Amino acid sequence: MELQGRNNHFIFAGWDTVELAKQFGTPLYVISEGIIAERCNEIKETFLNKYSNTKAAYASKAFLTMAMCKMIEREGLGLDVVSGGELYTAMKAGFPMEKVMFHGNNKSWEELELAVENNIGRIIVDNLYELELLEEIATRQNKKVQILFRVTPGIEGNTHKYIVTGQKDSKFGMPLEPKKIYGVVKHLMSSEYVELKGFHFHLGSQLFDNDIYIGAIEVITKLMYDLKRELGFITTELNTGGGFGIRYTEKDQPKPLSYFTDAIMNAIENQCKEYDLDLPTIIIEPGRWVVGEAGITLYTIGAIKDIPDVRTYASIDGGLPDNPRPALYKAKYDAIVANKAEEKLEMTTTIAGKCCETGDILIWDLETPKIESGDILAVLSTGAYNFSMASNYNKLLRPAVVLLTEEHAEVMVKRETYNDLLNREMIPKSLKKQSC
Ligand code: LLP
Repeated sequence: MELQGRNNHFIFAGWDTVELAKQFGTPLYVISEGIIAERCNEIKETFLNKYSNTKAAYASKAFLTMAMCKMIEREGLGLDVVSGGELYTAMKAGFPMEKVMFHGNNKSWEELELAVENNIGRIIVDNLYELELLEEIATRQNKKVQILFRVTPGIEGNTHKYIVTGQKDSKFGMPLEPKKIYGVVKHLMSSEYVELKGFHFHLGSQLFDNDIYIGAIEVITKLMYDLKRELGFITTELNTGGGFGIRYTEKDQPKPLSYFTDAIMNAIENQCKEYDLDLPTIIIEPGRWVVGEAGITLYTIGAIKDIPDVRTYASIDGGLPDNPRPALYKAKYDAIVANKAEEKLEMTTTIAGKCCETGDILIWDLETPKIESGDILAVLSTGAYNFSMASNYNKLLRPAVVLLTEEHAEVMVKRETYNDLLNREMIPKSLKKQSC
């Protein structure tokens, strides 16, 4: 990433961010198509092309728009969705349905119906209640659906406790109770409408170590072995989830993707050899890793409050509603004063959001040049889980999203308007009467 730029301006993906702020207004999400493509290439080079019988799906919860579906389709990856809304976005973008995988721990009847109607590639069944619904829907639609079972391998990732998922005490997935799993697998082996292809686990998010993947693979391959021995069931697919960590601040030292994928593939190959199992198709599903560092958010600095000998607060024109991650997970971000990219860092500034909420601080103690109202702030690595988790708290308008390619900077999501905010609101008749 180029930190210094023309006219003292911060250049991101070849574009002058101060000009972008001027042209599109702030707050503004900016996404670089080039960086997404680089990440997808790395997936191809270090995983898909290196190992046969592998697949990768982008976990769309990190950032999903119809334009993003187009980019992922062009890159040849699959798409992981977790709701009817995400599925609908993919459908409207014309994304190939056979490459869609549907996750979630409480999919509704309607969501499952939509998925089956549209012949999506895989449904990752989380629990027995869901399996019952799905069997009923598939029978009614007279369709055969292909599923993976999500299991919790009982492995704990070293990340924020709200984003670990693989531990025993988790709301996700089937616990590894052999008897229960044998029963379900046995039942599915003779099911007319539901075909079990294999298993899925996801250990957590923003992970930096590969050892927990190896641990989980040891647990799952043992299950595969037991199922083959006990029931003659052959696992043909194993989805090892996402979770690969990225760089938010210089404290984060992410490893290359191959650090994870090589470890995953080595572990599977070794384990399968040990248990005399055929290698299943291996699937990974990164979200943050694909899009996190491809995004920045631009803000304008407004009020500055200097409390002598305590701290200086600089307030931005967004905050918690466009980036809830600091308040939710104590997430740390780095930022650059975009119109002073080459100036000496001479003060410590705390970047405050504009919500009526004490916890709405985007960055504590950022080293900045002399900060002034009107400065443009570029917060880095905001591509994942910012736009997708944005809200209208305080009735703030959600920012526009601009896509940067080599030649164009184009809006892919329009900035909300006050009318958008009221679009779904109605004044009930009873209140209209009262006011007469
Ligand atoms: N697969 C499954 C089944 C998942 O639940 C997730 C993320 C992923 C893949 C992708 O994980 P990634 O590669 O993006 O780490 N809102 C939180 C992150 C929640 C992640 C939920 N599941 C955040 O902002 O940090």
